[in-house]
Amino acid sequence: MMSANLKNPEKSPYILILGMGGTIAGLAPSPEKPLEYQAGQVGVGSLIAHIQSAIPDGLELVTEQLANISSRNLTEDLLSQLGKTVRESLVDPFVRGIVITHGTDTIEETGIFLQLTCGQLSHELGKRVILTGAMLPSNASGADGPSNLLDAVKWASTAIDNCPGGIYAVMDGRACMAMDLAKRHTTALNAPLQSSPSSSAGLINPTWLFGVKAVQAAWAEDLPIPPGNEWPWVEILTSHAGARSETVSHWMDSEVKGLVLSGSGIGGFHDAWLAPLAQAAAKGVALVRTSRTGSGSTFPNIPEKDLLGCLASGSLSAPRARIALQLSLNAEKQAKKMGKPLTWQDFFARIAVLPVIG
Ligand code: SIN
Repeated sequence: MMSANLKNPEKSPYILILGMGGTIAGLAPSPEKPLEYQAGQVGVGSLIAHIQSAIPDGLELVTEQLANISSRNLTEDLLSQLGKTVRESLVDPFVRGIVITHGTDTIEETGIFLQLTCGQLSHELGKRVILTGAMLPSNASGADGPSNLLDAVKWASTAIDNCPGGIYAVMDGRACMAMDLAKRHTTALNAPLQSSPSSSAGLINPTWLFGVKAVQAAWAEDLPIPPGNEWPWVEILTSHAGARSETVSHWMDSEVKGLVLSGSGIGGFHDAWLAPLAQAAAKGVALVRTSRTGSGSTFPNIPEKDLLGCLASGSLSAPRARIALQLSLNAEKQAKKMGKPLTWQDFFARIAVLPVIG
């Protein structure tokens, strides 16, 4: 990362805008063909130039392009870089807040990653980190990126009704905790849905704020960020009608360290998986159960008694549970190096019980 000195020679407080790419930085062949666009084409500096005239007087913005990709190609290495940049920037006294422009396809993964690795730090320092993106490319008529970006900059920089430092997302005129945002429609402008009652970008809903504070009180210690090339290998397997035992046994000779079981209904999986999953558990593969339904929670020992060591993921969706399991496995590894007898289950259990807002 460039030093704050190079990014901001005047050394005055500023909002840092980190560019990751996505549709917000996308370009369509023509404004009438918004679905035929390519994500990650426009630099974050140009995105800011488009909203410059609406930026409140005296608010300084500094941009840094971390990547310019379609977020479906997001890598674990890039997540590590982003997490490290956010942590280093948060402790810089000249950084007032951080906005991240990101693709919406995997904003769900980045939201939970930042909450679990930087949530406590941002809360302690009283600084907001805001994820934002867009559903329409930058040159589409009615592009939603500029208003989302402007809302995000305001949310990062304004003293809002006791709203604490933390990891948020702002899109489509509403704000939520970033760990509650997920894309749940292929094309709709409000596709990145907040799973908790959110706030309109300018007005705080007191019930929501109460929930935010409950989550932040429960999240007392951030997890370490894995080095880019050391993320534990974790796969998501989806249970379905006609599921086969081979879907699980296929992984037995691999280096896979964990499996997230995206079950049906309340998080049960096909009986065909029982025997190979028991083998996987005996081999030391970490198992986590979630539901493919898209909302609601999974609970321990429901609908059947859990295999030894397998954890239910609470309200985490499969992509979030995967990131949470990877960070928990890494935390176990780091703890072992320090002689602490903590397991991945100890870390994952702290995540699975985080309060659900609403
Ligand atoms: C992406 O995730 O990079 C493309 C889709 C989007 O940003 O909406």
